[in-house]
Amino acid sequence: MGRRFAMGAIGAAAATVLAFAGMTAPASAAGPPTADQQCLACHGMPGLEKPLTGGGTLSLHIPGDTFAQSVHSLIGCTGCHADVNLASHPAAVEPIASKRNFSLAMVQICRTCHTVEFEQWGQSIHAALVREGDPTAPICTSCHLPHAVTRGASESLDAVPCRMCHAAVFNAYAVSVHGVLRRGGLAEAPLCFNCHGAHDVSVASAGVGRRDVCLGCHTEAAASHRAWLPNVDLHFGVVECPVCHVPQAPRTVDLILYDSTTQKEVSGPVGMPKFEGLTGSTTATQPGLDPTTLLLLLKVTNRPGIEGKTSVRGRLELTQGVDNHALTFAFKAIRECNTCHREGSAAFQSVTVSVAGPTGIPIRYGVNKDVLNSAFSVDAIGGFYAIGGTRVTLLDMLLALALVGGVAWPLAHLTMRWVFKRYLNRTPHEQPKG
Ligand code: HEC
Ligand code: HEC
Ligand code: HEC
Ligand code: HEC
Ligand code: HEC
Ligand code: HEC
Ligand code: HEC
Ligand code: HEC
Ligand code: HEC
Repeated sequence: MGRRFAMGAIGAAAATVLAFAGMTAPASAAGPPTADQQCLACHGMPGLEKPLTGGGTLSLHIPGDTFAQSVHSLIGCTGCHADVNLASHPAAVEPIASKRNFSLAMVQICRTCHTVEFEQWGQSIHAALVREGDPTAPICTSCHLPHAVTRGASESLDAVPCRMCHAAVFNAYAVSVHGVLRRGGLAEAPLCFNCHGAHDVSVASAGVGRRDVCLGCHTEAAASHRAWLPNVDLHFGVVECPVCHVPQAPRTVDLILYDSTTQKEVSGPVGMPKFEGLTGSTTATQPGLDPTTLLLLLKVTNRPGIEGKTSVRGRLELTQGVDNHALTFAFKAIRECNTCHREGSAAFQSVTVSVAGPTGIPIRYGVNKDVLNSAFSVDAIGGFYAIGGTRVTLLDMLLALALVGGVAWPLAHLTMRWVFKRYLNRTPHEQPKG
């Protein structure tokens, strides 16, 4: 993994790094440098505390030997605490309301030397949550204890910081094919940050980004699936990889409302005041929105004078986000076409419509599953249906014939497309993008 260590051009802290850049010997060999020993004379004492104005106390104990082992022993205490002046310290220190407040202010120093990571984090869903005032969203020191950072620590399965807050996801991951292989020592098997990033963590369901991450490692996947699955591009576009690779998990068709111009999920209910009223329910178990209402909704959002056209894009997903992590070995994956391509398929019994919430995390509303079958909504949905799964028995028969009769796929495929076009008189399938 390449070092992305970027130095701030200016500032006392950066100057410190430059001064120490040539140092290679671990400071631990001879104990902490004198300057740090001065700080540790007081802060090395267990039990040193400061009362917080918001209640409770802040432990001021910094274990000197742990710090001496850390990568930051190189820069010393004042590498980050440049504002501490021993001439006036501790008499002149400011009151602190809470540990979180202090951390939020202190992590700004990380930017000086780790500009790249800081900027990436600033774009993340975690940072968006911090800006929303979420006290549980991670900042630098939630994942890297500032006095104990050791090299590569966050990259190990047991110490990966993500598990602290996403325990359910970690547990599902740990028994998945990737988790098992990684535990067994296969460093190429992905851990959380290989799929989500460590700093630039985005909303999980955003676009097809996650699929492209899979394909980034599984470069042969499109070719290997093509050997048995027709229309691989279409399937990879509308069926998320875990839908087939976590065969037991419940599935949902998510109808994503997006802006045709920006190609982004539209945000709501902001700007769509009637939205919640129309859908009524935020769970897929209680059928909310019916076909006519969905059409109405689109008419309202696309009425003349409104900028940008709202379209609907269908995607077959796992109902529970956490289930995406329970990937199994490939021989267990769903292969039977009629798991989906059959009347009453379980894959199409749950339907949601989603819009982006304030931080980009989608809000999903339950939708009556008849939406998929409705002649009203076919135009609106732009052709999300699977043969037999949601629509026409005639196509079931064609598919069955093709399978049983061993018709070559290209031919069967052409026939199918033709019938689809004739039947629905729709425009060619719109491929989801970004
Ligand atoms: C003579 C003992 C002593 C020495 C030496 C000392 N500190 Fe402190 N430090 C304290 C005490 C006591 C407090 C709590 C002050 C309070 O209650 O407001 C404190 C508070 C702090 C805090 C908490 C932030 C704050 O504003 O209260 C930091 C950070 C800190 N010291 C860093 C350092 C560093 C870095 C050094 C070395 C350059 C150092 N200290 C040297 C005694 C010391
Ligand atoms: C890599 C930057 C960095 C270095 C180096 C560093 N600190 Fe800190 N220190 C921080 C941050 C950031 C906080 C805020 C607490 C947090 O977010 O966990 C902090 C908090 C503290 C506090 C308040 C107690 C607490 O844990 O919140 C004390 C005291 C302190 N540091 C002393 C020291 C001493 C003494 C040294 C040297 C032995 C040192 N620091 C080295 C970044 C650093
Ligand atoms: C004065 C500059 C400076 C500041 C400020 C600073 N660091 Fe560092 N940091 C370093 C240096 C130097 C290294 C070692 C780089 C190397 O050898 O690759 C490092 C390495 C790291 C590493 C990499 C560990 C690994 O796996 O290799 C992490 C994580 C880290 N710092 C986190 C932080 C955090 C969090 C803060 C803010 C609390 C912070 N740093 C503030 C200079 C700094
Ligand atoms: C949600 C947890 C999390 C947060 C928040 C976080 N990091 Fe990291 N960081 C990680 C993980 C995991 C790794 C190791 C994987 C990697 O390098 O991609 C890492 C690696 C690093 C490295 C080493 C990079 C390298 O190339 O080896 C640095 C430096 C770093 N982080 C600094 C920071 C700074 C500065 C912040 C605050 C802006 C921060 N991190 C916030 C989880 C986090
Ligand atoms: C200090 C706690 C904390 C840590 C550590 C943490 N997260 Fe988060 N994360 C949150 C919170 C809070 C949310 C927003 C609520 C939610 O969706 O769980 C969130 C949201 C997310 C989301 C978006 C979820 C969605 O619904 O789209 C992803 C993806 C994510 N985190 C991945 C990670 C990864 C990867 C790591 C480790 C590199 C990590 N998190 C570490 C607290 C944390
Ligand atoms: C192999 C790639 C991969 C790995 C490894 C991975 N994830 Fe995910 N993660 C996904 C996918 C795919 C989704 C679902 C995205 C979607 O809905 O489009 C997801 C969703 C999430 C969500 C949102 C869950 C929700 O309720 O909506 C969080 C949080 C998350 N992952 C955290 C983590 C954490 C923490 C780890 C490590 C324990 C991890 N992920 C490992 C691919 C991965
Ligand atoms: C329609 C269901 C389905 C979808 C969608 C699907 N897969 Fe598969 N996948 C399978 C089946 C079934 C196998 C086993 C094929 C075999 O044994 O010949 C498989 C095999 C694999 C394998 C092992 C063989 C190889 O190609 O190396 C990988 C890796 C894989 N899939 C990744 C993915 C990724 C990544 C995606 C999303 C881009 C995806 N799959 C989408 C059903 C699916
Ligand atoms: C960082 C690289 C990386 C990423 C990202 C990644 N994988 Fe993998 N995956 C591996 C490695 C390495 C293996 C084990 C060797 C192999 O079978 O290719 C593996 C194994 C698998 C297997 C088992 C293959 C078999 O032969 O049984 C499946 C299925 C799979 N991955 C699906 C996915 C899916 C779906 C995603 C995205 C959500 C994904 N992978 C993301 C590297 C990755
Ligand atoms: C996990 C569910 C799932 C499985 C398994 C699956 N499909 Fe599909 N298939 C879909 C979905 C969803 C679509 C897209 C419908 C749409 O948007 O028009 C689709 C589309 C198609 C189309 C394209 C129709 C067109 O418009 O061109 C064909 C052909 C097809 N599937 C054949 C198959 C065959 C053959 C198999 C088994 C080898 C299979 N599918 C397995 C869900 C699935």
